[in-house]
Amino acid sequence: MQDFAQIRVIAHRGASHYAPENTLPAFHKALDLGVDMVEFDVRSTRDGALVVFHDARLDRLTGVAGRLDALTYDELSACAVGGQRIPRLDEVLAAVGGHCQVNIEIKQRGLVAAIVAEVQRLGLQREVIFSSLRHRELLEVKAIDPRLRVGLLLNVRPVLAMTAVSLARAVDAEALILPRATFRPAHLRAAHRAGLAVYVWTVNEPEDIAWATDLGVDGIFSNYPDLI
Ligand code: G3P
Ligand code: CA
Repeated sequence: MQDFAQIRVIAHRGASHYAPENTLPAFHKALDLGVDMVEFDVRSTRDGALVVFHDARLDRLTGVAGRLDALTYDELSACAVGGQRIPRLDEVLAAVGGHCQVNIEIKQRGLVAAIVAEVQRLGLQREVIFSSLRHRELLEVKAIDPRLRVGLLLNVRPVLAMTAVSLARAVDAEALILPRATFRPAHLRAAHRAGLAVYVWTVNEPEDIAWATDLGVDGIFSNYPDLI
């Protein structure tokens, strides 16, 4: 049975207001702030290196034009995010593993086996919760080992509470991960009745944080984890 009494402070892309998103300084800052969980995004380079980076394209974050998956890991090493290099999955797991829970958002198809293998290699199965907008990837995680933890991530399209719970059950999720824009108290009631936790992203405004906290959500993703 999950503990619904305690709210989880989740650093979104690390403490990404305080350091460049999804970089080692953002994860170290999150740990300094004592967060319960860090969230980050995983993609692959052309030659199969697993790296922590949000966008499919490099433009917004690095100023380099083009897709991340068009470059090899060596080529990607020339790119930086706010002066920080793009870390590999294993480096981020080594930095945060053992210190807090970890939410790995799988951004691309075809990476599940490699990501899970890395988590298993480091012995972090119990601390990691996998999420993805690609729900087939979550089924793949469970097919590798049903004890692996998954959260059902939904995008900003409004969804009925009953539908969200059914989708979560279909992938044997332990949590619903809903966007602030479409999250409603009805989602929380239905999820809790079904034994599911509810985490809301991305909540940065103090009044929104207070609203979600007062409603009793189980976790808040924020770029400002110190405000929760
Ligand atoms: O997992 C919650 C949130 O990270 C999903 O949105 O775009 O920040 O990856 P995004
Ligand atoms: Ca994410």
